[in-house]
Amino acid sequence: MNSPLKIAIAGLGTVGGGVVKALTSRHAALAAQAGRGIEIVAVSARDTKKKRDFEVGNWVADPMALASGDADVVVELIGGEEGVARKLVEAALENGKHVVTANKALLAKHGKRLAELAEKNNLQLKFEAAVAGGIPVVSILREALIAHGVDAVKGILNGTCNYILTEMEVSGRGFAEVLKDAQAKGYAEADPTLDIGGGDTAHKLALLSSLAFGTAPDLANMKVEGIEQITAADIGFASEFGFRIKLLGVARQTSSGIDQRVHLAMVRARTPLANVDGAANGVVVDAGEAGSFFFSGRGAGEAPTASAVVSDIVEIARGSFGPVFGRPAASLKTLVPADSGAALSAYYLRFEVLDVPGVLAEIAGRLSEANVSIESMIQRGRAPGESVAIVMITHESPQYAVERALKAIAASDKVRARPCMIPMEAA
Ligand code: HSE
Repeated sequence: MNSPLKIAIAGLGTVGGGVVKALTSRHAALAAQAGRGIEIVAVSARDTKKKRDFEVGNWVADPMALASGDADVVVELIGGEEGVARKLVEAALENGKHVVTANKALLAKHGKRLAELAEKNNLQLKFEAAVAGGIPVVSILREALIAHGVDAVKGILNGTCNYILTEMEVSGRGFAEVLKDAQAKGYAEADPTLDIGGGDTAHKLALLSSLAFGTAPDLANMKVEGIEQITAADIGFASEFGFRIKLLGVARQTSSGIDQRVHLAMVRARTPLANVDGAANGVVVDAGEAGSFFFSGRGAGEAPTASAVVSDIVEIARGSFGPVFGRPAASLKTLVPADSGAALSAYYLRFEVLDVPGVLAEIAGRLSEANVSIESMIQRGRAPGESVAIVMITHESPQYAVERALKAIAASDKVRARPCMIPMEAA
């Protein structure tokens, strides 16, 4: 057998711990699969005193020392798009060490430059764990579904958001209450901004989009919204129409360019994506003539994320090398954004209006002026002079037409709140 692959791990939180445990408990099996042993030669963590449920030696106080030690591979599990994580990855690649990382924020922002650095030095920079935890979607896009190209990749990429949306649907409770409960149960961070604001999904989508379309990861040309605005009423109405509301990351090749967006979407209840529940993730890849493929599983947590990290380490141990984003980094194109306003979609619309004569005619008139056609409608309850909800599903219409109509409707003195607009996503 070849000499063992020496690895250094920076960051011993949930994922780092999972990697140590898997490499230790499955040492012989992984060595057999890799064709050589895999040895942890050094580790570092911010909190060295923390009680951990595994044993590991060779602690190093400064993570930067890992970039100049005798490891072949540095596993970066610190996180963050700048700071120590970025410095460590750059230093490791400059010092001739392969890098495995779960850091989506770092790669979404600096991916092309880091990939160029790795490839210039004939090194690997692998990131299976950065997207959708245990689902091997990076390998799927980089190696498997390449023969016919990719038309679109879309998915539920944030378990926290999906958990909250699922709980809201099951319990009928509001967003704030469910978020608090999710934090108490450990499904949401104390500061949940990156998850619920859509930022985490955006980082992951930027990487999927790059792999799918051969463009440099691009966060700037992406419309990103979170889940804070969703109400239990919207989830209930969606269900009556036969849909479920999900936070999706969608990247699609269109005739005008690449459309990348993170948004709440109405997904038809019988589709696989609509049935990804709780903290799970799900990804759909439309791979041209090869067809549409759906993958689901655990998108976060110790074992699933460690599984992805270990698969990258084993690939390096095998000497199975390829370009970081599936094609030479220097050839990654600048993304040309699609004209997103022209994108056609059916929409769910909810208006909070005064229950007075003429309000429905006014809404319908504004939609008609913008050439937006209504497919179905619900008005529930009766509260003369008070606020009621009017909910509609439109036929397929350009986004800008619906936005124009909603702007006019929002200006009416009979409309009590900003109208809610959620696109339908065929999944
Ligand atoms: N916080 C993420 C999620 C996992 O909830 O899916 C790490 O990206």
